[in-house]
Amino acid sequence: MRAWVAGRFGEPLDVLKLETVDAPEVAAGHILVRVLAATLNKNEIDGIRGVYASMPTPAPFIPGFEVYGVVEQAGAGAEAWIGKHVIGMPRGGHGGYAEYAVLPTVMAFEVPAALPARTASALFWPFHLAWLALFTRAHLQRDETVLIHAGAGGLGSAAIQLAVHAGARVIATAGTEEKLGLCRDLGADVAINYRTTDFVHAVLDATHGRKVDVALDSVGGEVLEQTWRCLNYGARHIILGFSSGIEQEDERPVLLRQLIFGNFSMVGVLMTYVEDRVLESASDVSGVAYPQVNFNMPSRALGEEIHARILDLLARKRIRPIVGLEVGFEELPQAIDRFDRRETWGRVIVHTTR
Ligand SMILES: NC(=O)c1ccc[n+]([C@@H]2O[C@H](COP(=O)([O-])OP(=O)(O)OC[C@H]3O[C@@H](n4cnc5c(N)ncnc54)[C@H](OP(=O)(O)O)[C@@H]3O)[C@@H](O)[C@H]2O)c1
Repeated sequence: MRAWVAGRFGEPLDVLKLETVDAPEVAAGHILVRVLAATLNKNEIDGIRGVYASMPTPAPFIPGFEVYGVVEQAGAGAEAWIGKHVIGMPRGGHGGYAEYAVLPTVMAFEVPAALPARTASALFWPFHLAWLALFTRAHLQRDETVLIHAGAGGLGSAAIQLAVHAGARVIATAGTEEKLGLCRDLGADVAINYRTTDFVHAVLDATHGRKVDVALDSVGGEVLEQTWRCLNYGARHIILGFSSGIEQEDERPVLLRQLIFGNFSMVGVLMTYVEDRVLESASDVSGVAYPQVNFNMPSRALGEEIHARILDLLARKRIRPIVGLEVGFEELPQAIDRFDRRETWGRVIVHTTR
């Protein structure tokens, strides 16, 4: 099969090479998917640079955190998946930049075969993660106000739509006027350019000083600490990513006085579904042991419930996955470069077959 291989860690444009390699072997509880499209994610770009400590993968490796395709083979216990169209995460969080990928069934979800590829391939991470974060973890309620950072990104564009559908008031941030326009089109009441404007003042203005009930933060860094000044009594600050620098995952930046005086909660979110929370160990989940980390993963049953709700909203045209760029397989490194430079919005889809 053809695959983009990272022969070593480094800049994607330098290290990714299109090669012919053996298709992966499928194991029990796994499915072999003929990939129709791979969708770009921040995480795999960090992986190519060798800085994604949560799912470290030694080079050489095939990156790719998310695929859409058709199941061609199945390991023991997974036979019922053959022939289905699925979206999900390849084993170990890599292997998606290829014509075939192996997925554990626990991270695969069936989609209707009739869905256009651009719709199906844009669904998985942003809508599952936004639902898990906003509703399951942060309990966002109707008439509450939510601040969504990077609102024009894959995750942000999904989160705005889900929050609006739930009856919340949305304040979004993004980095260009064009992206702010997209946030407003998706239903954000207020859109703030956080690269040119003091977003804390803008949020205080927009809420007449009442601040927000929930903040969805995938950016981190200065944005994280400034966001605390936007949170009202009892607010929930969702921490689920560090687009401004993944190394922050292993830093200790929190001034705890802010939490005490602020009377708000920090809500961590990791979306790795597991069949059995009790049996799953840290190294089973990430391939690496974190002795100080307490692993609590969301269940597969919850994932199926979220998936059904997302497909229902899609069928009723209440949500639409946003795709900012579609390219062919050969153009994958250039697409990564544009995504990495923050030039794209929504999701970036790489079609394996046209
Ligand atoms: N916890 C989990 O289980 C989990 C799983 C998957 C992904 N994630 C996280 O979810 C987040 C969203 O991922 P995504 O793939 O959908 O990406 P994305 O949001 O489509 O793209 C990242 C966006 O972050 C914004 N950004 C702000 N500061 C940035 C900086 N210094 N450098 C680069 N971008 C910056 C950019 O938007 P502007 O130009 O508008 O600023 C950029 O478009 C990521 O942080 C990812 O790590 C978490």
